[in-house]
Amino acid sequence: MELIYEGKAKRVYRLNNERLVMEFKDEVTAFDGLRKEVAIGKGRLAAAQTAFFMSYLEGNGVRTHFIDWDGDRRITVRALRMVPIEVIVRNYAYGSFLKRMPMVKPLTRFSKPLVEFHLKSDELHDPLLTMDDITEAGLLTREELQEIINTSLRVNDLLTNLLSTRGLILVDFKLEFGFDGSGRLLLADEMSGDTMRILRNGKHLDKELFRKGASAMDLVKAYAELNALLGVKS
Ligand code: ATP
Ligand code: TYD
Repeated sequence: MELIYEGKAKRVYRLNNERLVMEFKDEVTAFDGLRKEVAIGKGRLAAAQTAFFMSYLEGNGVRTHFIDWDGDRRITVRALRMVPIEVIVRNYAYGSFLKRMPMVKPLTRFSKPLVEFHLKSDELHDPLLTMDDITEAGLLTREELQEIINTSLRVNDLLTNLLSTRGLILVDFKLEFGFDGSGRLLLADEMSGDTMRILRNGKHLDKELFRKGASAMDLVKAYAELNALLGVKS
């Protein structure tokens, strides 16, 4: 298989014209790659989480790029033309929201889920975008943007409910979308502790642990704990 892209968290290989293989690395990075450590076992746990969440969403009518998981660090997905935007859904105030709105108390519950958009650009540090920015730059039409918002809110409802049955709180998460060959929008990339904040009795079972100074090994333990709680086979 041809390696076509290597990012911070994954390697992407081309399987054929329609399919890619994404390999989750046994590494964890934070602060734009400034802190980076080996995390043995993390790749498999994050691949398993992505497979679990995306299969769950598919089963509930959300179209995703997910095809299958090899039981280890790789998943097969549909090759898409990616929308260069990160969609963030927030249920509680945290992270970059608190940086731009410091008057809000951490973990304040919002009156409704917030949806926001950031341009995917490491050089520009993923700037916040307005809906007009997105449509005027020609990244998406109004209708496509509305479809992305509706899907993101539906994903939030489904995951919030699923996690609450296991005593877990979904604070916020990031989604990416892409277009398939027929022009349909599909949920893409990954859904794991790297891209979601999940609390259990006030403790993070996500990458926030590492951002706050925990070791890579403690992060892997937290991902394993999350998978056990969710009944994810890994
Ligand atoms: P970041 O770590 O900031 O998210 P990255 O580029 O380093 O960025 P990785 O997760 O390491 O991210 O790399 C995966 C890449 O594959 C991303 O650029 C993502 O947008 C892209 N991607 C995800 N799903 C698909 C897909 N179905 N088709 C094509 N590209 C995809
Ligand atoms: P956010 O609070 O915007 O940023 P930061 O992680 O810098 O405090 O993050 C909101 C959610 O989105 C959180 O669950 C982590 C996830 N996320 C990603 O997966 N990738 C990213 O590049 C960013 C900025 C956030």
